[in-house]
Amino acid sequence: MARSSSDARSRWWRSPATRALAGMATVAATAAVLVTAPGADAAASTLGAAAAQSGRYFGTAIAAGKLGDSAYTTIAGREFNMVTPENEMKPDATEPNQNQFNFSAGDQVYNWAVSHGSKVRGHTLAWHSQQPGWMQNMSGSTLRNAMINHIQKVMAHYQGKLAYWDVVNEAFNEDGSRRSSNLQSTGNDWIEVAFKTARAADPSTKLCYNDYNIDNWNYGKTQGVYRMVQDFKSRGVPIDCVGLQAHFTGGSSVPSSLQTTISSFAALGVDVALTEVDVTNASTSQYSALTQACMNVARCVGITVWGVRDSDSWRSSESPLLFDGSGNKKAAYNSVLNVLNSGGGTTTTPTTPTNPTTTPTNPTTTPTTPGGGSCTASLSAGQSWSDRYNLNVSVSGSSSWTVTMTVPSPARISATWNINATWPSSQVLIATPNGNGNNWGVTIMHNGNWNWPSVSCSTS
Ligand code: XIL
Repeated sequence: MARSSSDARSRWWRSPATRALAGMATVAATAAVLVTAPGADAAASTLGAAAAQSGRYFGTAIAAGKLGDSAYTTIAGREFNMVTPENEMKPDATEPNQNQFNFSAGDQVYNWAVSHGSKVRGHTLAWHSQQPGWMQNMSGSTLRNAMINHIQKVMAHYQGKLAYWDVVNEAFNEDGSRRSSNLQSTGNDWIEVAFKTARAADPSTKLCYNDYNIDNWNYGKTQGVYRMVQDFKSRGVPIDCVGLQAHFTGGSSVPSSLQTTISSFAALGVDVALTEVDVTNASTSQYSALTQACMNVARCVGITVWGVRDSDSWRSSESPLLFDGSGNKKAAYNSVLNVLNSGGGTTTTPTTPTNPTTTPTNPTTTPTTPGGGSCTASLSAGQSWSDRYNLNVSVSGSSSWTVTMTVPSPARISATWNINATWPSSQVLIATPNGNGNNWGVTIMHNGNWNWPSVSCSTS
């Protein structure tokens, strides 16, 4: 089934109040832009509102058992606009006995979330861990059928309600091979069967593959997952998103290649999200870096931290979250909020910028193509690296323009800044003003083709 993910930057999670505020923010930002940096937005005071300024969400994991704790719900309701049930939609919770379903805890989290203006990420349908006892002992076609039935019934219950579902969780080994599990032993096609079943069960929900240790681009597991998503895309297996759990705890830390990883997955035509973030001792530099990496990639749709306060964390001894046990904002909170407020796109991946020996093939004439109205889009070279380059775009002639940019195959547009973007495909970008003026830009993964994109401009 063809399915567009072109609403990656849509703002459907905003409440009317947030929308109104953001409207005011845009006006303020337009004025501010004249004296400060392009892309600066007026500051929002919560994580969710700050993320929403760029069409993203900021989420947390919520535990049903804590919904009676008002300190917990006060922070969660105020700060976050995406909720992942921490354990309540896992197979052991939703199907404790075979074909007998229990949605009470999952519904509790879901209902709390939507009543606080939040969207919900379903987590998770097929996983080697947290399986009910009856499933752990199954194998072969019996297990395959049980997995299919589980996906169908759970997704039917939440039909039309969830923004995303983690269909499959943690199916790879560190070296990029498949993790052995009872699910894997039913046949290598179990993952694509899970995704196809999920699409048929609820075509309204975006279907994600989710895993940990897939943040470092130069890592076997990352490459293994990347190849699977690439393969699924090439064969039409339905997949809409990749979740990087981003647990930078237990000895791991934010890799310098994180943005490359995010943009590389995004270039396959999927949404990307950081889905379970925690960082040992809530390092401010690491929280800033991971937030900036997401902000710099257009299809990085949001960030979810894995719990509210340190005391709520599954790794509480590492104090890895944004609020301390008393509910105070930590330094890392401010780091994240500042990055969300300052927008994305201007900071580049902190890998060594190795300019290619051959410079990008600049057309001799500036590729400005006036479109249906009286506006012109001009391109100029930005920074370039071995695998990608930036282009700056300046639109003149009108302040209400639509620019269509088409990159030559196999190049892909991987990031944008300072525009509202929609994506008919990963090679075609439709850009409209986001209130911050007429200068914006793109990052293009050249994939061997350095020819600049064609652009056309029309007024609306
Ligand atoms: C964890 C929960 O936070 C714990 O409460 C539970 O005991 C174990 O699972 N990867 C995932 C999450 O996808 O579901 C896990 O959550 C953390 C690792």
